[in-house]
Amino acid sequence: MLETTLKTTGSLSGVLLDWYDKNGRVLPWRTDPTPYHVWLSEIMLQQTRVEAVRDYYARFLETLPTIASLAKADEDLCTKLWQGLGYYSRVRNLHRAAQQIMEEYDGVMPRTSGQLQKLAGIGPYTAAAIASICFDERIPAIDGNLLRVFSRMTGFGEDIKSNAAKTAAKAFYDEIFPQTRCGDFNQALMDLGATVCLPNGMPHCEACPWAECCRAKADGTCQQLPVILPKAKRTIEHKTVFLIYYQGGLVLRRRPDKGLLAGLYEYPNTDGHLKESDLPSYLRTLGFSAVQVRPLPEAKHIFTHKEWHMTGWEILADEWEEFTPGKPKDQELFLASASDLHHVYSIPSAFAKYTALIRGNYLNDFIGNPG
Ligand code: ADE
Repeated sequence: MLETTLKTTGSLSGVLLDWYDKNGRVLPWRTDPTPYHVWLSEIMLQQTRVEAVRDYYARFLETLPTIASLAKADEDLCTKLWQGLGYYSRVRNLHRAAQQIMEEYDGVMPRTSGQLQKLAGIGPYTAAAIASICFDERIPAIDGNLLRVFSRMTGFGEDIKSNAAKTAAKAFYDEIFPQTRCGDFNQALMDLGATVCLPNGMPHCEACPWAECCRAKADGTCQQLPVILPKAKRTIEHKTVFLIYYQGGLVLRRRPDKGLLAGLYEYPNTDGHLKESDLPSYLRTLGFSAVQVRPLPEAKHIFTHKEWHMTGWEILADEWEEFTPGKPKDQELFLASASDLHHVYSIPSAFAKYTALIRGNYLNDFIGNPG
């Protein structure tokens, strides 16, 4: 029915594909769209901007060029390659799914969106993106961009995060989806959403190939659509972070396998803001005694559902009762050299302010530069 309002020659899909041929973005995963490349790019692009992904994508493939090499890699190497991208469960699932592909599919990526969804970390959106781009499956990959375009094109005025919105968007795209160039059509919609039909009420309608059949443009409601309900307030957690230097190394801890920042490494930290007078007894619970302590600046990190408001202390320890050599288990403290800290252990960017303050030559710096 929308098609009948289109004055331009050709169907909605034809017009958009023509626009994509002229205006589509040139992106690394589009120039060599193997299933592995497309899969990796789609996982990296979840919650992350294209520009932020480019370098990570290139570095990941340089180190782990095939599904087989990813399946065999140590998990710490995978998370190291992901360090700074955030949402680390993505890379843990990627690693697990590569092992599933080796074990269950003889090392060959399955071809249908149904099969793809059986792999770790691949939901309906990612499965549709891979299946359409790599295997020309006729299925819309409905993400935030496609929901926004749908909402404006049809004047859909309910909560865009609702199930009703997803169902209505699927019906809309099923109707207009082309029979061929299915991957291009999805990527054209992604580009339309990312470069023309922009969020926050500022679309470039003058550049839109669908402008003449857009309900929101006709009604002047682009600013109001899509309808985004306010988010629940984030909870605030107070923490004290410790940079503890001991015998030329820095003390780290592995986070639990489940939950926020699962399996990554962190500086020891505890709930609440500890004062200097609290330190001796707290450090004793960790098995340390300190010869010097210095305050570190405050830092804040915002996650999707919570905020960490941190203070910190720099500690030079002269005694550690429970020194643990070897690969650490969950929650266990261990000592990392400056080089391992750099090359082996992934410290999430939530701690970036403290990471930037780590002394290069731990021990000498600390003693020789007491300011
Ligand atoms: N965002 C998610 N997937 C994408 C793709 N294939 N191209 C551009 N942006 C994207």
